[in-house]
Amino acid sequence: MTLERWPVELGPVICVVGARPNFMKMAPILRAFAAHHPAIPTLLLHTGQHYDKDMNDRLFVDLRLPHPDINLEVGSGTHAVQTGEVMRRFEPVLDAHKPSCVLVVGDVNSTLACSLVSVKKGVPVVHVEAGLRSYDRGMPEEVNRVLTDQIADLLYTTERSALDNLLREGIAEERVRFVGNVMIDSLLSNREFAHPPAKTLSQAGFDPSILEGANSYGVVTLHRPSNVDRAETLQPLLEVLRRVSEKLPLVFALHPRTRANIERFGLSDLVASERIVLLPPQGYLEMLGLMAGAKLVLTDSGGLQEETTALGVPCLTIRENTERPITIDQGTNIMVGRDGQAIIDGVDEILAKGGKRGRVPEYWDGHAAERIAADLAQWLIERHLQAKPKSE
Ligand code: UD1
Repeated sequence: MTLERWPVELGPVICVVGARPNFMKMAPILRAFAAHHPAIPTLLLHTGQHYDKDMNDRLFVDLRLPHPDINLEVGSGTHAVQTGEVMRRFEPVLDAHKPSCVLVVGDVNSTLACSLVSVKKGVPVVHVEAGLRSYDRGMPEEVNRVLTDQIADLLYTTERSALDNLLREGIAEERVRFVGNVMIDSLLSNREFAHPPAKTLSQAGFDPSILEGANSYGVVTLHRPSNVDRAETLQPLLEVLRRVSEKLPLVFALHPRTRANIERFGLSDLVASERIVLLPPQGYLEMLGLMAGAKLVLTDSGGLQEETTALGVPCLTIRENTERPITIDQGTNIMVGRDGQAIIDGVDEILAKGGKRGRVPEYWDGHAAERIAADLAQWLIERHLQAKPKSE
């Protein structure tokens, strides 16, 4: 269903981003609306949860995201402060713009904060990437996921197992739609623009010849509080990475949280090696190029588990669980936990045999955002027509 003119009383779709992993999910959604449903007004709202040049600005440029229409500029803080501040600043935005719905993506604090404000004001919440569960309530994102899904009116999922999770939590099936993975939309549409890894290293002041060894190189990211916030956990992980670097050079893109903790715990010597390239957080196109050219990826990121599956690059996930089981069942992901020997064995296996090949999951085809835009447009119009008095 398309509309020539969007009924003014229906209001815009407010699209919320807050932190780095939201940006690659929202970019294709905004583009799909602009290309296929130009009559529907969208407003891009940034909560300001991430704000650095490295964590924010570079990704906006790489992903060709428009400048946000509204920025709440909340910045960093404890979970309560950050979530509360987003809520406090978001409420007047709803009053001013009277949106037809609020569209949130992923599982960061901004996702939950904006959903909670919206539902209390009677504004429909649309959650993209719904239904993923690690079943680990110690993860802040798991709490954000469960609560956002409970209050969302419309839930778009990336893999079929998400529906089972939602049904178990009493969410009605008619609210759930399997559309595929918008993050993979971004990956596929940007792959040809990915920066060559050698260029990324040169620009950061490193000798790119380190990437040319027989085993090429591994990419590392670590940022989960459960891995990096305590010295007793971070130190053994860095020791294992040091051992891995003797087998193949590592390119380690450091999240600000991780960099700060390495310094705070006095662990810098462990990663001071010619075989470990320490980079600041990378732009989207740099990271895409680094991952696509890697022999393997070692990570605790949710996004990288999916991106490596789409790229066919072996991934060892340094976590005890994943909310994205399809990357293990069908993709290239192996859960190695924090056990040092399991990590070393996983690396050896990949170096000896090439690692899991995997296949690309259903609907990770570059068109998820178009499915969302089409379905959401129809849902909003139908709701609008049902709500109209019969005499009109
Ligand atoms: C947040 C998300 C996490 C996501 C991650 C990606 C939550 C609960 N967590 O975690 O799901 O995987 O983003 O990065 O929402 N900082 C900067 N510059 C910035 C932003 C943050 O230096 O632009 C530093 C600050 O010291 C801040 C710390 O990073 O205190 C953590 O930032 P925060 O947004 O609280 O959580 P992340 O660990 O980034």
